[in-house]
Amino acid sequence: MNNNENGKKDSLKALINDSIKELNEMAEVSDANGQFRKIIMDQLSRVMTMEENADNAKDFAALEQITIGICPGDGIGPSISEQTQRVLEHLLKDELASGRIVFKQIEGLTIENRLQKMEPVPADVLEEIKTCDVLLKGPTTTPKGGSLESANVSLRRNLDLYANVRPVQVPEEGIDWIFFRENTEGEYTLGSRGIEIPGKLSIDFKVTTEPGTKRIARAAYEYAVANGKTSVQIVTKANIMKKTDGNFSRICHEVAVDYPTLKLEDWYVDIMTAKLLDKTRRSDFQVFVLPNLYGDIITDEAAEIQGGVGTAGSANIGDQYAMFEAIHGSADRMVEDGRAQYANPASLMKAASMLLRHIGFTDKADRLENALNICCETEKKVVITGRDDGATGGEFADYLISKL
Ligand code: IPM
Ligand code: MG
Repeated sequence: MNNNENGKKDSLKALINDSIKELNEMAEVSDANGQFRKIIMDQLSRVMTMEENADNAKDFAALEQITIGICPGDGIGPSISEQTQRVLEHLLKDELASGRIVFKQIEGLTIENRLQKMEPVPADVLEEIKTCDVLLKGPTTTPKGGSLESANVSLRRNLDLYANVRPVQVPEEGIDWIFFRENTEGEYTLGSRGIEIPGKLSIDFKVTTEPGTKRIARAAYEYAVANGKTSVQIVTKANIMKKTDGNFSRICHEVAVDYPTLKLEDWYVDIMTAKLLDKTRRSDFQVFVLPNLYGDIITDEAAEIQGGVGTAGSANIGDQYAMFEAIHGSADRMVEDGRAQYANPASLMKAASMLLRHIGFTDKADRLENALNICCETEKKVVITGRDDGATGGEFADYLISKL
């Protein structure tokens, strides 16, 4: 290397050192230090709350009166919620008459109200929701970008709905999967609290906690044992996300010591995504336990294998509350085109069957599932296309009620 090149290198080094010094003194960098400290303290306090509340679950089935909150949501939500509520009213006729079950309409969980108040779930709406035991929730619109957080994410956090349970079945292929997606942590906990040095870089955070992982693992294993399952698939990317996913997998293994009949399998999320498409292999999978974001992605893939995201139901379970919803979105375009009445309520009805099971009405849940199976799989006399060449949601609900 000649003198000239050495000189160039030295001056470049000096330039970088000067820039780093300058960056180090930037307000954004000192702010980021404070922001990060606050994040850690907030998360530690969440960990302590979880530790205190562990083993303090409400027995929904033992409640004298169960309040079911109905949140219609946005877009096609009001239309599919109305039809699903009709079905529930039919199944719960006696319990509604005796007062054991009460329905409560929750107004105000609409995109208009949320934007106007600039709150993902306006405080007064959240208070109303907290007077219910379980919720049937239509899809809510999540604006892309901007600062308004998703209502779903906010409800899951505020009601501490830590287990997102999503069953997927393809009986003719022997597929009977159930996903236990951790629902309050991972990339979602701090999704709107990332750090940005404008023009330079952005950092988001992913969080795995000890009690947060223990409780989702336990929920998955309890289900597995109670339903005669023999294996559990733990899905992570622990080779790359060494702290968060590494600990998620370790904790899942530790919790499994109490469930000696279960065989645990560790899978990386990339190969699991591929194997769900492998027809020679996929029917071996049984119960999945996985961190939030992988669960979000993989459950859409799984639902598509079942027949589309519109066919799947989703339960968000916590120790004090539970929320049941369709896994599809609010399909605002259908409303704009005047087609809301042609929206398919089957996914929300599937969620309603999970709701019934959760509050202890197993036989009614079975009846609803059977009827859905007849109407959507075997008999299919009333077909919904989403357009006026198909049936309306109301006609589908009539058909379904006739099969209950
Ligand atoms: C889901 C959805 C939500 C999620 C959205 C609406 C925030 O995709 O329930 O899977 O990402 O969890
Ligand atoms: Mg999703």
